[in-house]
Amino acid sequence: MKKILVTGALGQIGSELIVKLRNLYGENNVIATDIRKNDSVAALSGPFKLLDVADGEKMFQLAKQNQVDAIIHLAAMLSAVAEKKPLAAWHLNMGGLINALETAKELGIQLFAPSSIGSFGPTTPKDKAPQDTIQRPTSMYGVNKVAGELLCDYYFARFGVDTRGVRFPGLISYVTPPGGGTTDYAVEIYYDAVEKGRYQSFINKGTYMDMMFMPDALEAVVQLMEADPAKLQHRNAYNITAMSLEPEEIATEIRKHIPSFVLDYQVDPARQAIADSWPNSIDDSAAREEWGFRPQYNLEKMTADMLEKIREKAKV
Ligand code: SER
Repeated sequence: MKKILVTGALGQIGSELIVKLRNLYGENNVIATDIRKNDSVAALSGPFKLLDVADGEKMFQLAKQNQVDAIIHLAAMLSAVAEKKPLAAWHLNMGGLINALETAKELGIQLFAPSSIGSFGPTTPKDKAPQDTIQRPTSMYGVNKVAGELLCDYYFARFGVDTRGVRFPGLISYVTPPGGGTTDYAVEIYYDAVEKGRYQSFINKGTYMDMMFMPDALEAVVQLMEADPAKLQHRNAYNITAMSLEPEEIATEIRKHIPSFVLDYQVDPARQAIADSWPNSIDDSAAREEWGFRPQYNLEKMTADMLEKIREKAKV
C-alpha cells in the first residue's frame, strides 16, 4: 500500500487505524472518510472527506482523484444494532461493500473488507471453529458478513480484484467506543470499573467469545494487506483471535488492579441470543501459517493497558 482511502474512519477501528497508517505511510497518503466529521485526531491529522458509503459515485471519485492504491472499508453496522434495524443493516453493510468492490475493480486497486466471528452460527463447531466450516449465521449482521466474504471471493475470482479480509473477534479499545455490537460488554466493563467500580453485564457469565486488543487488530490489517499474495489461500476472511473470554474472567483480571470491583448481570436477551449463536472460540492457524499473524496481547497485558489508559482519560 502507498496511498489509502479508509471508510468509516472515525469508528472504533478507523479512529486508531488512521493514526497508525499515517505514521507508516505518511499523513497525506491516508484519506480518512466518514459520514460525519468530529474533532478527533483521525479527523484532524490529515486529509478528511465526508463520504456516505451508500454513494458509490462519490466513493469512486474520491478514490480516483486521490489516486489511492487501496481501500480499507470499515463503515458498517454492528450486530446488535443490525438486529434492531435489519433492512437498514442490509442496505448499509451490503450497499457499502458493493460500492467498495466496484471502485476497487474499476481502479484496479486493493480492498480490505472485514468479516467477523458473527459470520458463524449455531451449527458451526463451538470450540476452535475451523477456518473452513459451516457458516449459517442467524443474525442479519452474520448474513451480511457471509455474503460479504462470498462477494469478495467472487470479485477476486471473476475480476482479479485484490480483496483481503479477516474475521475479527470482539475488539477491545479505549479510544473510540464500538457502536452497538454484542461484544461491547468487554469494553464497557473496563470503563465502568474505573469510573464506577462496578459493572452490570448484558452478556451472561460463562458466555465465551473471542476477543482481541486493538493494537493487534490494527497490526493484522497492515500485515495482511502487505502480505505476499501468492501465500494467501484464504484471502477473504481469515479467522484471527487473541483470547476467548467470558465476563467473570475479565472481572477476575480487573480485580488484580481494582480489588473491590463488582460484576453483576442484567442479561439482554437479544444480545445474549446473538452471543449464544457464535462460537466460544475460533482457530486462527491459517492466518498464522499464511501471513504470520501473531497477537501480542493476552488478557493480563490488555487489562493493565486498558485500565491505565482509561484512568489517564478520566483525569483530563
Ligand atoms: N464486535 C462485533 C459485534 O459484536 C463482532 O464482529 O457486532
